[in-house]
Amino acid sequence: MVIKPRLKGGLALTNHPIGAKEFVKRQIDYVKSQDKYEGPKKVLIIGSSSGYGLATRISLAFGAGAETIGVAFEKGVEGKRVGSAGWWNTIAFNEAAEKEGLVSKNFIGDAFSMEMKDDVIKFIKEEFGGKIDLLIYSLASGVRTDPIDGITYRSALKSTTKEITGPTINFEKETMEETTMGVATPEEIKSTVKVMGGEDWKLWIEALDKGGVLSEGFKTVAYSYLGPKVTYGIYKEGTIGAAKRDLEHTSDILNDFLKEKYNGEAYVSLSKALMTRASAVIPIFPLYAALLYKVMKEKGIHEGTIEQKHRLLTQMVYGNNPVIDEERRLRPDNWEMREDVQEEVEALWDKVTPENFKQISDYAGARAEFMQLNGFDFDNVDYDADVDLDELAKLVP
Ligand code: NAD
Ligand code: NA
Repeated sequence: MVIKPRLKGGLALTNHPIGAKEFVKRQIDYVKSQDKYEGPKKVLIIGSSSGYGLATRISLAFGAGAETIGVAFEKGVEGKRVGSAGWWNTIAFNEAAEKEGLVSKNFIGDAFSMEMKDDVIKFIKEEFGGKIDLLIYSLASGVRTDPIDGITYRSALKSTTKEITGPTINFEKETMEETTMGVATPEEIKSTVKVMGGEDWKLWIEALDKGGVLSEGFKTVAYSYLGPKVTYGIYKEGTIGAAKRDLEHTSDILNDFLKEKYNGEAYVSLSKALMTRASAVIPIFPLYAALLYKVMKEKGIHEGTIEQKHRLLTQMVYGNNPVIDEERRLRPDNWEMREDVQEEVEALWDKVTPENFKQISDYAGARAEFMQLNGFDFDNVDYDADVDLDELAKLVP
C-alpha cells in the first residue's frame, strides 16, 4: 500500500514507517557528529517514543552509550491501519541500538498503571543489572486513570482566567485562523493536574525506590514548558500551566527525598517550543513556534528536538554549564527566552495576518517539522513506493 499524509487540523491521521526510520536516523546522525559524553549507563524513559522523550533516548544511547528502557503508549498495524508514528520510531530506534550492541527494551502500554511499574521494576531487577541511574519523565497524555481510586481523568486545554481568542496555524488547510480557548471549570483544572501534574512521576519514583532499583547518585528529570508572554494566556495561565506547577512542586519533594537517600537529584527542565504530536494541537502554539523559528534561525540559535535535548544532557544534567533559575528549574529554553528573541517574535506577532503569515514566519520549517514527526516530507524517502503492511506487521518494538 502507498501511504499518503492525511491531516485533521493539528492531527496526523497517517504516518509513514519508512519515513520514521529516516526521522530517527537523522537524530542519531546528529548525536554521532558530536563528541561522546560521560553520562548514565542505565536509563528509564517514560514517554520514549516521540518528541522530547525519543530525542533524549537517542542522545543518551548514541552519545553516552546508555542502555535504555522505554515506556510508551503506541499501536501497531491493525488491518489496513498502519499503526502510530511512535511505534515505528521505537522499532527504528531498536534496530539502530541493536547494531551498536546497546540494550534497548520497550514496554508498550499505560505508564500510569501500577502493573506497568511492576513490570518495569521486575525487568530492571532480573535482566537490566538491578539498578537505574536516570529516569526521564516525558509523558504527554490527555487521559489518566488514577491507579489508587480507579477514576479516569481527562485533561482540558483551557484557560484559567478568561476566554482567549488568538491566531493559530491549521496545518491541514494551510491557513492561519482564529481559535478560541474557553475557561476551565475548577473540575477541569483539577483533572488536568491529575493527568499532567507530578502525581504519576512521584508514584514511579516511590515504586522504584521500594523495588530497590535506584542507584547511588540517581537523577530524575521531568520535562515542562513555560513559554513567553504571548502564550501566557494559553500556557502559563492555562490548565497546562497549573499542571506544570504541580510538576515543579513534585520535583522539590522528590529532590529532598533523593538527596537524602541516594545523594540523588530531581529536576524539572523547561524546554524550547517545538512541533511535536502534543504541541501541534495546543491553540496559538503552532503560530508562535513558526514565528520563533524564523527569529531563532536568523540568529543562528535554532534547535530541533535532538539539539535541544543533547545540549540539556551534555551541558546541564551531565555537564558543567547548567542554566538553573531561582526556582531550581533547568532552563535549556534560555535561547528562546532571550530578550532580543522575544522582542522580535512580539513584533512579528503584532504584524502577522492570514495573508502574510507564510512569508513572515518560518511556516515552511514548522510545517516540515510537523510532517517529519509523522515520517513525511523527507527528500530521500520514496513516498510512491509500496509499503508492505503484512511484512511490517511482523515487527514489534
Ligand atoms: P509527544 O506527544 O511527542 O510524546 C509523548 C510521549 O508520551 C509518547 O512517547 C507517548 O507514547 C507517551 N505516552 C502518552 N500517554 C502515555 C501513557 N498513558 N503511557 C505511556 N506512554 C504514554 O510529546 P512531547 O512534546 O515530547 O512532550 C513530552 C513532554 O515535553 C511533555 O511534558 C511536554 O509538556 C514537554 N515539552 C514539550 C514542548 C514542545 O514544544 N513540544 C516544549 C517543552 C516541554
Ligand atoms: Na516524549
